[in-house]
Amino acid sequence: MENRIVTLDEFIIHRQKEHPFATGELTGLLRDIGVAAKIVNREVNKAGLLNILGAAGKENKTGDSVQKLDLYANEKLIECLRNSGECAGIASEESEDFIPIPAVEGKESKYVVVVDPLDGSSNIDVNVSVGTIFGIYRRVSDPSGPVQLEDFLQKGTDLVAAGYVLYGTSTILVYTTGRGVNAFTLDPTIGEFCLSHQNIKIPKRGNFYSVNQGYYLKFDVEMRRYIDHCSDENYGLRYIGSMVSDIHRILFQGGIFLYPNTRKYPQGKLRLLYECNPLAFVVEQTGGKAITCNLERILELEPRELHQRTTIAIGSPEMVDEMEAFVKRYANVPAVNGQN
Ligand code: AHG
Ligand code: MN
Ligand code: MN
Repeated sequence: MENRIVTLDEFIIHRQKEHPFATGELTGLLRDIGVAAKIVNREVNKAGLLNILGAAGKENKTGDSVQKLDLYANEKLIECLRNSGECAGIASEESEDFIPIPAVEGKESKYVVVVDPLDGSSNIDVNVSVGTIFGIYRRVSDPSGPVQLEDFLQKGTDLVAAGYVLYGTSTILVYTTGRGVNAFTLDPTIGEFCLSHQNIKIPKRGNFYSVNQGYYLKFDVEMRRYIDHCSDENYGLRYIGSMVSDIHRILFQGGIFLYPNTRKYPQGKLRLLYECNPLAFVVEQTGGKAITCNLERILELEPRELHQRTTIAIGSPEMVDEMEAFVKRYANVPAVNGQN
């Protein structure tokens, strides 16, 4: 497969053939996500030309202002996953409850999908990269009936596949089924995602840290000490405001992304099911690490609700280890004169 263009569809079918008992459902699902990504990409690219920019005038379940393109991306993903019958249900950032999908032609689907249809959507109006994040689980409820909440409240360690699409200077789809991470860049001239990066390995360290430093004074003392350390070490600061974009840079250049708890978000801001778990799975598959600011492995957290939030530190393994050492050293250090 080395010396010619390999499309995403060819690649996932090739991978399926390596599993003699595979039914093709997962292959179908990944292809559906690829199709949805192309449709969303088309709209993201012409966003400046149409009256599709700006807030749709309501808030989603988690209180963020919903952009029109969020809703569009949500609709398209649901539509693409609904049509093929490979997916039994979807949990999305943009929907309060999970969405059961009726069986198509009596076909009982084994899988459910969790998705952040558009990540970093506050960036759309200003032409900065946004993304789509997805995770795929094998359902655990009786496949002859509709999906249940328990199908979605699975730990990240149970993910069958996960990935993201970054609508950036080029559009790239990155995914893993737990056997390494590969990336496919969209060639707009032929409308296909083509294999562009095989078996991605994250650098052990990087020169950048990524955190919303504007909230510095709202972070716990151990996070502030770690951020001071990053600054002392002359790491550069990069923070795009769209986690997918920051993680993508970190996969290739190394670095660490942090979203600690703040007074506004005591549990952290980012969502466990459809933001942190899929990205943690991808990052771990490249050799990186993803933990909470309380030092639990993200993928082992027990989800209790669809829109659960968590803190996160994710990226190059040695940098996450270093952050861990700061937490161990400075957490619960008694305040001096009421100050930390
Ligand atoms: P979304 O657009 O799906 O709501 O996600 C935005 C997330 C994440 O992508 C980003 O890193 C973070 O929120 C930015 O939050 P702050 O503006 O609080 O830094
Ligand atoms: Mn998001
Ligand atoms: Mn979103």
